Amino acid sequence: MKGIILAAGAGSRLYPLTLVASKQLQPVYDKPMVYYPLTTLIEGGIREFCLISTPQDLPRYRQLLGDGSRLGLRIEYREQAKPEGIAQAFLIADSFVGRDPVTLILGDNIFYGGDSFQKAFTEFEGGATIFGYHVNDPERYGVVEFDEHGLAISIEEKPKQPRSNYAVPGLYIYDNEVLAITKALKPSPRGELEITDVNVEYLRRGKMRVCRLARGFAWLDAGTSSSLHEASAYVQTIEKRQGIKVGCPEEAVCRRGFLNVEQLENLVNGLPRCEYRDYLTGVVEEARRLSQR
Ligand code: DAU
Repeated sequence: MKGIILAAGAGSRLYPLTLVASKQLQPVYDKPMVYYPLTTLIEGGIREFCLISTPQDLPRYRQLLGDGSRLGLRIEYREQAKPEGIAQAFLIADSFVGRDPVTLILGDNIFYGGDSFQKAFTEFEGGATIFGYHVNDPERYGVVEFDEHGLAISIEEKPKQPRSNYAVPGLYIYDNEVLAITKALKPSPRGELEITDVNVEYLRRGKMRVCRLARGFAWLDAGTSSSLHEASAYVQTIEKRQGIKVGCPEEAVCRRGFLNVEQLENLVNGLPRCEYRDYLTGVVEEARRLSQR
């Protein structure tokens, strides 16, 4: 399974913050926003990534994440010159995806809690898997409607009269057919290649699975100044109470076995003295203690 992180877009709702750094590089409490979706996919077992951003922002992402080898990952970069739709990511990353299945995650989607995604990755056998999350304001999202047996029967993009309260979050798992489906798509009236049109096509073929995310699961929005602030406050509350970090890729690669304890320790030794380093030092010590049992 390959992973695409889509981190382009104008970020105009966060102006003037986005004058100098793209939305997905803004801090969410103690780390850049893009760390959260990256960590979500690492936890799902993905090691090979393509990060898509604007020509002006890509150098910053390269500076932040490099080629990924420091984390035991492989990260490639591609440009999206204009925001011509979320599904365009598959055309841009076509050569990266090759013949593999692929997961797309939006660089501003922050998830926390439960094992629904891990389960979906493990159980994925083909077709498409997306998720449904109960929200108060479904008209702002892709909306999925279920029948009485819990099977998805319709998916609509930002409907004026939503048929349910289940929004589709920005994490989509597809088999390799997604490349052909996207190539056949026409832009929507707003001029974009819509991810919802990809999902509708999988639904039409009878190859769409929609998993409902449980009540305890958090899907945070960080698209406006106040929701960005709220997301930071949420992460701070969890981290302070539990003494664990949310969205920490260094920890996730160690837990997944992409780096061993020695490699993580070397990485940590190269970090400046800061709270983040102190936390990772604790992760190394705990991993050592567990391995000596
Ligand atoms: O967040 C989930 C929702 O994301 C889904 O429920 C909707 O079905 C889906 O269309 C999308 O809706 P949004 O209104 O949030 O899409 P937006 O245009 O704001 O783009 C979401 C993120 O993707 C944003 O951070 C910018 C990035 N993006 C978007 C487009 C259209 C790109 O990088 N390139 C693009 O061309």
